[in-house]
Amino acid sequence: MREFKGKTAVITGAASGIGKAIAARLLGEGMKVVLSDVEAPALDRTVNEFLAQGADVCGIEADVTHYPAMAALAEKSFARYGAVHVLVNNAGVVVPEAPNLWDVSLNTFAWHMNVHFWGVLHGIKAFMPRLVAQNQEAAVMNVVAHPGALIQSPILPAYSASKAAAASITENLHYQLRKQNSPIRAHILFPGPHTVPSNTYTASRNRPAHLAPEPHEPVPVVKSLEEMQAWCLKTYGFERPTTRAEQVAEDAFQGLVSGDYWILPSKEALDKAVVQHHEELMARRDPVLPFEML
Ligand SMILES: NC(=O)c1ccc[n+]([C@@H]2O[C@H](COP(=O)([O-])OP(=O)(O)OC[C@H]3O[C@@H](n4cnc5c(N)ncnc54)[C@H](O)[C@@H]3O)[C@@H](O)[C@H]2O)c1
Repeated sequence: MREFKGKTAVITGAASGIGKAIAARLLGEGMKVVLSDVEAPALDRTVNEFLAQGADVCGIEADVTHYPAMAALAEKSFARYGAVHVLVNNAGVVVPEAPNLWDVSLNTFAWHMNVHFWGVLHGIKAFMPRLVAQNQEAAVMNVVAHPGALIQSPILPAYSASKAAAASITENLHYQLRKQNSPIRAHILFPGPHTVPSNTYTASRNRPAHLAPEPHEPVPVVKSLEEMQAWCLKTYGFERPTTRAEQVAEDAFQGLVSGDYWILPSKEALDKAVVQHHEELMARRDPVLPFEML
């Protein structure tokens, strides 16, 4: 995609963190942005912040797990701006999970799958027919994470499974679009390479009551990046490096410009883990997770 000015982007989970940073980056290119989120007060605050800067934005409350809400988001976005050129399926959640995956409740699995798999699929189903009919250059960017989408993370099995499912539909979408020589490109965005400061530590704020955790499941003890860093220092003797959300937004923008499918900042330890896993597979050797990836 070369031209951004005057075009429209729709971003889910845009009230906060990475979604908000991507919105700011695309607004900087002169795009119009529909910010969508399930958390109405945070969405209002973010929309008002951008409006105060003179940006052409609107906020549409939508829960990605609810297909009618996503269909309405597509309907309202096209009604408001006439066309959509970039869809970023970014909404996401994470919570600490029980040490054994058989102790992770079905509710915890369902919540992750609903947001990360069904949420992304709902976005694709709600927007793709219109994007195809529009027959213009466009992009669908799905935000995943290396746990699940590249290698596994035994400390987050529900999160990993849901991101693996999102990565699968993203890659299949890519193949189908390329086969049709479509002007629409699919992108898979891995925020990073390090932890990105955001509101992810309090993701439970958006957990629906009907998918509440069971009493034995761990409750989030770390409520902010600072608390997480203090915990890492105490537990491992070092602080985790971080990547700013603005850097992720820059990577996302450059991915739109280049049209590249993989938006995956390089990280030596991750690259090595992926290669090792591939070699283990080819040799039919049991997989071993490198310590750095735990
Ligand atoms: N922060 C990181 O280090 C990191 C790393 C890898 C991947 N990611 C991914 O990046 C994406 C953005 O996360 P973030 O770190 O900016 O967190 P964040 O909590 O700051 O932002 C996530 C947004 O998604 C919204 N949301 C949650 N459930 C929703 C739902 N059902 N419907 C609509 N919106 C919903 C939240 O209200 C929030 O505004 C997520 O998909 C996350 O998995 C983040």
